[in-house]
Amino acid sequence: MDDVLSRAQALARHSDSSRHYTRTWLTPAHQAAARQLAEWMRAAGMAVRVDAMGSVVGRYEGPAGAKTLLMGSHFDSVRDGGKYDGVLGILLPIAAVAEMHRQGERPPVAIEIAAFSDEEGARFQTSFLASRAMLHGADSVRPLLERRDADGVTFADAMRAAGLDPARADEARIDPKRLCAYLELHIEQGPVLLGRGAPLGVVTSIAGGSRHLVTVRGEAGHAGTVPMPMRHDAMAAAAEMVLAVEESAARANLVGTVGIVTVKNGTGNVIAGEVEFTVDLRAPDDGRRQGLEAEVLGRFDAIAARRGVTVEASKRHEVRAAPCAPWLQEQVAAAIASVGAEPMRLPSGAGHDAMILADVVDVGMMFVRCGAGGVSHNPAETVSAEDAALAARALLYFLRNFRAEGGS
Ligand code: GLV
Ligand code: MN
Ligand code: MN
Repeated sequence: MDDVLSRAQALARHSDSSRHYTRTWLTPAHQAAARQLAEWMRAAGMAVRVDAMGSVVGRYEGPAGAKTLLMGSHFDSVRDGGKYDGVLGILLPIAAVAEMHRQGERPPVAIEIAAFSDEEGARFQTSFLASRAMLHGADSVRPLLERRDADGVTFADAMRAAGLDPARADEARIDPKRLCAYLELHIEQGPVLLGRGAPLGVVTSIAGGSRHLVTVRGEAGHAGTVPMPMRHDAMAAAAEMVLAVEESAARANLVGTVGIVTVKNGTGNVIAGEVEFTVDLRAPDDGRRQGLEAEVLGRFDAIAARRGVTVEASKRHEVRAAPCAPWLQEQVAAAIASVGAEPMRLPSGAGHDAMILADVVDVGMMFVRCGAGGVSHNPAETVSAEDAALAARALLYFLRNFRAEGGS
């Protein structure tokens, strides 16, 4: 089997920064990674295309007329992220197909591997951009075209600079009726498998999430002259709101995160006049997530009123919780058992492209144990060579024995 970990490490050299691993949508490093993935797919015997959003899709034929099993994950990263998040779910399937190709084997169904160009959305604050475009085409892209990255480049111009045509975004659409299932392999990004001593896991469901961009407006003023009781400090109000997110999420036994806080024209000797921050809320159950969302937004309003500032929250993203199909869970479990490991079942707290695909086709996921205490979205993220090799063998078993529900 091809050495998946050394490929992940080689791919991480295609980074937007020379100081850390960051690969965002359509940068030169991102395009170089796409070319490398296409080359590995071709070497594995696949026919390769690049879609209208820059995703790389490889196809390995099955029996005539058979439906397609889509596999994949993303090859963009968060800023200063881990090398395996997303990439593992592309490289493992490529290695499995390469092995079948070497043996002259054809799988029971056609296989496609989608290397999604953007899932994290670090450049344009998008999420699941590539998989959403695969299902919803131009409708999912149109509202984003004028959005700007940190350097002021618009989304549409970023596409043109990478040789993509924003007017042709609809061509990213696939016909979901030709799919029989979607399978995603992913590093667990948490400590559960590690704590249990289990190298691989069967994902039962994926937590849903909502994200808001919140703007707090107060009054800018002189840091030396405005008495404390007379201030309308947007930063102090935002700080209280951040703590409200933390407290409400913890009390509900859910998770809430503020990952970006920006003071507009922030200066050391100026009372903050305007602050923007992001809020990310997740829950395994959509009703509980919506309850948390309502509570947090209500607390923002109360804090703003008490401090004499205004607050405005705009929802940037919402994705429902997605269950993994029981019949795929069974086949993933059998594949894990086939390599002598315990098929431990666990939910995913992280989001995955599988959640988007779940709207149109049954989805399944296999987790691979995360080392270093389970840390992810962090450069310390790691996977052992033994676990990656076990995952590759389990995936090969899955593919060789795959039966679409109701026959293939
Ligand atoms: C993706 O990594 C997410 O869960 O935010
Ligand atoms: Mn991630
Ligand atoms: Mn990921």
